[in-house]
Amino acid sequence: MEIQNPDSDSCFPKVKYWREDVLYQFQGFWFLPRHLQGTKQVLDQFKPLPNDVILASFPKTGTTWLKALLYSVINRPSSINQLVTNHSHELVPTLEMQVYGRPVANSPPGHFPSNTSSSTSILSTHIPYQILGETLNSSDCRVVYVARNPKDTLISLWHFENAMYLGQKSEPQPLENIVSNLCEGTVVFGPYFEHVLGYQKESLERPDKFFFITYEELKSNPITHVKRLAKFLGCPFVGEDMETQVEEVVRSCSIETLKNHEVNKSSDVPSWTMMPYDAFFRKGQVGDHMNYLTKDMIERIDAITRKKFHGINLWG
Ligand code: A3P
Repeated sequence: MEIQNPDSDSCFPKVKYWREDVLYQFQGFWFLPRHLQGTKQVLDQFKPLPNDVILASFPKTGTTWLKALLYSVINRPSSINQLVTNHSHELVPTLEMQVYGRPVANSPPGHFPSNTSSSTSILSTHIPYQILGETLNSSDCRVVYVARNPKDTLISLWHFENAMYLGQKSEPQPLENIVSNLCEGTVVFGPYFEHVLGYQKESLERPDKFFFITYEELKSNPITHVKRLAKFLGCPFVGEDMETQVEEVVRSCSIETLKNHEVNKSSDVPSWTMMPYDAFFRKGQVGDHMNYLTKDMIERIDAITRKKFHGINLWG
């Protein structure tokens, strides 16, 4: 159905999402109005510089973790102290929410300490490659994409969105609904599968520009993958104490370490989101979906995962 989007002059198809939220379809993907406005500004105004590093991800796939890792790898060794006093999302702002777009809460804006001590700016985005590709390809900027298996991503999203609404004392969203949202593609920045495929395809064709990593790979062998990441970014770990340096980065960015910093325990809500700082750190485990999804839900998601990711080695 074509309707007038209150946040723009254009007409977009819309669907009902959770509770009173509505998603608008823009260039084949689904957006909340506030994200759509920021996305259009990014497309109109953002010109990446050759030295920029852009972290791209679908929501709830490990963005907060990768922000900390990218910041640490690029700005080491001084980065370690910055992570103690700054939330990862303030160190690496999200283009369509923090750099562009409009505030969503009446709280003070998050503060952005100098993004980096080097000449590299690190920025992040949830905008799909199918929409942002032309912008990303307009300079020699490098892109890191983190993907996570769809079932854990879904459960993480469910907790995150429920936390937002439970603050308003409402019931959790039925899991059946969000499973349908994922399978039908009507989820924030979805369809999930096309989101992953857009960046994954580019990483195969242009591995010097697009680095693709899964949450699960990083969890199972962080040392190896952080070394790969540093090499891709042009700042490899070198020297006799190289193993110690990598271990220090991995440790300082682990969920166990980050969760214990006061700044990450804070229930303050910055103006660019509706969620408190502490909501970005939950369990950080692989396979948590098994504690929530029924056998039928798992089969439904697995079937579509096999279909969509047929021929590529991703959770199929
Ligand atoms: P869970 O909800 O499964 O615990 P995003 O940063 O894209 O919003 O993703 C949030 C997910 O990443 C949450 O997963 C969160 O707990 C997890 N996470 C946050 N920081 C992490 C870290 N340093 N290491 C591993 N996982 C982390």
